[in-house]
Amino acid sequence: MMSAPLIIGNTLLKLDAVESTNTWAHTLLKNQNIHEGLVVWALDQTRGRGQMGTNWHSVPGESLTFSVILSPGFLPVKDQFLLNKAISAGLHEYATSRLPASVFIKWPNDLYIGYKKAGGVLIENILSGTGIQHSIIGIGLNLNQHVFEGLPGATSFLQETGKRYNPEEELHLLLSILDKWYLKLRNGHQEEIRLRYSQCLLGWQRPLKFRHKDAVFTGMVSAVDNAGYLHLTLEDGTSEKFGMKEIEWLF
Ligand code: BTN
Repeated sequence: MMSAPLIIGNTLLKLDAVESTNTWAHTLLKNQNIHEGLVVWALDQTRGRGQMGTNWHSVPGESLTFSVILSPGFLPVKDQFLLNKAISAGLHEYATSRLPASVFIKWPNDLYIGYKKAGGVLIENILSGTGIQHSIIGIGLNLNQHVFEGLPGATSFLQETGKRYNPEEELHLLLSILDKWYLKLRNGHQEEIRLRYSQCLLGWQRPLKFRHKDAVFTGMVSAVDNAGYLHLTLEDGTSEKFGMKEIEWLF
C-alpha cells in the first residue's frame, strides 16, 4: 500500500509532449510560484536532455520521463551532491523492487542493470548565494524498449524480464520511494544516505577497469565525496579522485 506523498508527487502535471520536462520545469519556475514536490510528467519528449549536453532519446509508451521540482534550501551548495545520493538511493530501491537482476547505480547517478544502462538522472540546481534555491530532478527510465539502435550499452526493464511495465504505475511507485529518501535528507539522515548510495554503486569495493587519458588501470570505487568526485583505490593501494569527464569505464 502506497501512502500519500508528503513532498515529491504532491502535485502531478501530465503533459502529452514537451521538448524536455527539465526545460519545462525551468520555465514554470520562471513564470509561477511553484511549491516544491511538483512533478512534470510527459508522455513524449521531443528534445530530451542528458548529462553533459547529451541528448536523451525516449519512445512514447516505452519510456518514463519526468522531472521533480524541489527547494532544498537547507542543503549548502558545497554538499549538493548529497541530493544526488538521496535520489540515486531511492531510484535503486525502486528498481531493485521491480527487477530480479542485479541493479546498480553507476556514478554519478545512472541506473544500471548488470553492465547495461536502463535509466538516467539529470539534476539541475538553481543556486542562490551559498544555498540551493531550486533543484530540478529529471529522470528517464527505459521501461518497455526492445530496440536500442546505436546504443549497445542500453537495456530496458522489458528486455531484462520479458514483462511490460505500465509507465503510470511505475511513476507512482518511484515517486513514493523518492519522497521517502528526500525526507531522509531533509531530516538530516546523511549517514544513512551516504552508506546506501555507496552500497548501490557499480564497482563499490570491487575491481573494475578504467581509462584515464591513455592509461588503462584497475581500481575499486572507494568513495564519492559531497562535491561528487569519484575516489578510486588503485592496485598499488594509492587513491585518486576523478571528475565527470575525466574517466571512462571499461566493461
Ligand atoms: C543521462 O543519463 O544522461 C540523464 C538522462 C536524463 C533524462 C531525463 S528524461 C526526463 C528529464 N527531461 C530531460 O530532458 N532529461 C531528463
